[in-house]
Amino acid sequence: MKIYVPRDAAAKALGAERVVKAIEAEIAERGIDATIVRNGTRGMIWLEPLVEIETSEGRVGYGPVTPADVKAIFEGDSDKALGNVEEIPFFAQQNRLTFARVGKTDPLSMADYEAHGGLSGLRRALTLTGDQLIDEMKTSGLRGRGGAGFPTGIKWDTVRRAQAEQKYIVCNADEGDSGTFADRMIMEGDPFTLIEGMVIAGLTVGATKGYVYIRSEYPDAIEVMSAACAIARDHGLLGNVMGSGNSFDIEVRVGAGAYVCGEETSLLNSLEGKRGTVRAKPPLPALQGFMGRPTVVNNVISLATVPVIFEKGGQHYADFGLGRSKGTMPIQIAGNVKFGGLFETAFGMPLGDLVNKIGGGTASGRPVKAVQVGGPLGAYMPVSKFDTPFGYEEFDGQGGLIGHAGIVVFDDTADMLGMARFAMEFCAVESCGKCTPCRIGAVRGVETIDRIAQGDGEAVELLTDLCETMKDGSLCALGGFTPYPVMSALQNFPEEFAGVKEAAE
Ligand code: NAI
Ligand code: SF4
Repeated sequence: MKIYVPRDAAAKALGAERVVKAIEAEIAERGIDATIVRNGTRGMIWLEPLVEIETSEGRVGYGPVTPADVKAIFEGDSDKALGNVEEIPFFAQQNRLTFARVGKTDPLSMADYEAHGGLSGLRRALTLTGDQLIDEMKTSGLRGRGGAGFPTGIKWDTVRRAQAEQKYIVCNADEGDSGTFADRMIMEGDPFTLIEGMVIAGLTVGATKGYVYIRSEYPDAIEVMSAACAIARDHGLLGNVMGSGNSFDIEVRVGAGAYVCGEETSLLNSLEGKRGTVRAKPPLPALQGFMGRPTVVNNVISLATVPVIFEKGGQHYADFGLGRSKGTMPIQIAGNVKFGGLFETAFGMPLGDLVNKIGGGTASGRPVKAVQVGGPLGAYMPVSKFDTPFGYEEFDGQGGLIGHAGIVVFDDTADMLGMARFAMEFCAVESCGKCTPCRIGAVRGVETIDRIAQGDGEAVELLTDLCETMKDGSLCALGGFTPYPVMSALQNFPEEFAGVKEAAE
């Protein structure tokens, strides 16, 4: 008998370790032959800790489980029974490609990984030429899942064509956007898929060394990724890759906790042991990246999606999605929402469906007021924009961005002027200080919003002007995108800006 209890940080935060102890005690007391597998989370966070028991009819779930619930589960009389986990509507409605194994398998079992399709992509990649590898990536239409949406195949091609003795693959696991957890979830739930993706990237561009730069706030992900790299070495996935004569190894590096270190050039500085300040581009990291060498810098989800692209074919992946937003996106639904969690689906689902049909509306039961999409630099989307399909161009057309696909829901009690002020304050605190529009602008932005709050109508024009300057003049997205939440709050909820009201009167 196999019993699954997630080792994922969210499940642990909700009491998974105590539940494991209670299950172990119950197994010992009953003298049952049972194994506890520490899987990743299925991504239905409101059901965590979600305990699954393998039966002849599939894996049946119980959740959210407390130690006090365990006895009744073993007696077959639990009021936490959920039936077959994969038939729960939140799960059943997904198109899981990148996250296909997360929650299903033992994250640190290579045998389990292979039994569920792992390494098939790499085996196929090893039979292809460099041009064919690039073509497959271009066909898939995969775009950078960190937020910018730059075509991954083109980025890889730039690195591949660069002439250098040493090239690198750097995985950006400094997941800092508010309400996002997809990177963490895959590193804790299916680390080999990220390793396999990095190996394929290395083969394609001619890199022999990779780094996974993980934020220090993710101790579980650091532990699982480090253990997975050691296992991958033992199984020949790293080192002499599958005995092919191609060499590739990975080192896990831990960040020190700055939001801006998620910006690729700042990350590279940090990786080199320098202060995490942003570098001017050009030169692009693709040509002069880590230690000045050609470097692929990709987000966790971009790299973790590579194995399934090679396993099922680029065209299979591209057949999902909408317009230029091809494939699937792991959308992270969070904030004031009834059913929070990770929902992987093809691009194109309207924002309102994600919030109301999938997320179940607010947890407070009050009406939804707005959702912030794309992290702290993303726009506040009001309910009137809920028919916007989830896609890069579609959100751009509505003055927003999808970023790393985090959705944070707010009910009608949200203070939008306060949220705009928070965006400026966040930028002021996290600014690396390299350029003036961000370093000084964000501080002035907080002061200007305070003036508006005190009824100074003239400060609205000043705020608008300041946002334009930050947008056009900042060196990176931190200063350049802070105007999104500020201006979207101002434009969509003008009545909440006291100064605007005063000016109108
Ligand atoms: P960017 O548009 O400057 O670059 C995108 C990527 O494409 C970079 O890796 C760049 O080096 C590469 N690139 C551009 N032209 C290239 C070429 N010709 N050949 C090869 N590579 C090329 O965007 P940036 O500043 O890297 O990222 C901004 C995004 O980051 C925003 O959209 C924001 O949503 C997102 N973000 C994500 C966070 C997270 O936690 N995941 C946190 C903060 C921001
Ligand atoms: Fe640094 Fe801000 Fe300028 Fe980015 S926009 S380079 S974080 S000062």
